[in-house]
Amino acid sequence: MNNSVITAPSILAADFANIVGGLSLIEEARGGWVHMDVMDGHFVPNISFGPKMVRDVRARTDLPLDVHLMVSQPERYTSEFIEAGADYLTVHLESTVHVHRVIQSIRRDGARPGLAIVPSTPVAAAEELLDEIDLLLIMTVNPGFGGQALIPRGIEKVARAVQIRRERGLSFRISVDGGVNHETAPLLREAGVDVLVSGSAFFSAPDPSQYLRDLCGHGGG
Ligand code: DX5
Ligand code: ZN
Repeated sequence: MNNSVITAPSILAADFANIVGGLSLIEEARGGWVHMDVMDGHFVPNISFGPKMVRDVRARTDLPLDVHLMVSQPERYTSEFIEAGADYLTVHLESTVHVHRVIQSIRRDGARPGLAIVPSTPVAAAEELLDEIDLLLIMTVNPGFGGQALIPRGIEKVARAVQIRRERGLSFRISVDGGVNHETAPLLREAGVDVLVSGSAFFSAPDPSQYLRDLCGHGGG
């Protein structure tokens, strides 16, 4: 059980014509990080935004920017996203052969490297990279779109990652992305998650502050 979960609202679900409004909502609700989903229309079947959005968001908030690259050949873009202001920069294990090299270059360029895995990739496939990363992002939906239901097997993957981290004495954070809401969050906390990404449920919550407190298990009652 993790009692100090970080929340990371995803601006993918914000009004793109009013990103400043979305950021204010995150800040007022005391979100921990701003999650930014970059999609290239190739690695995933959707297109979102690129480094300019990260740069513009960086100018408007002091919250850590948790940038999730869902792009093919991420090595072509990492320096640009770091220059734009990404604090955490996460690449997919499935997106390029030489992920180890990409992770090293992210750290060298001054950001915290993250590694993401899609639902069909087992945690075991990430084992060789776990001592190189600051964040393991376990996707609990197939990437590309917000608003999908969490795939329950993802919860076991969190528990598995916690176990490996303990056995190896490592300290990377474990994040879950996709289908997080007030019903799935308690199960993920129980499994030991550190970071909860939430897009559609956050932006459609009647009371976003209360919603984030619920995600952390501090909802009262
Ligand atoms: C999906 C993205 C997610 C998405 C989560 O490809 O990586 O970050 O915004 O959205 P919800 O919380 O709506 O499932
Ligand atoms: Zn994401």
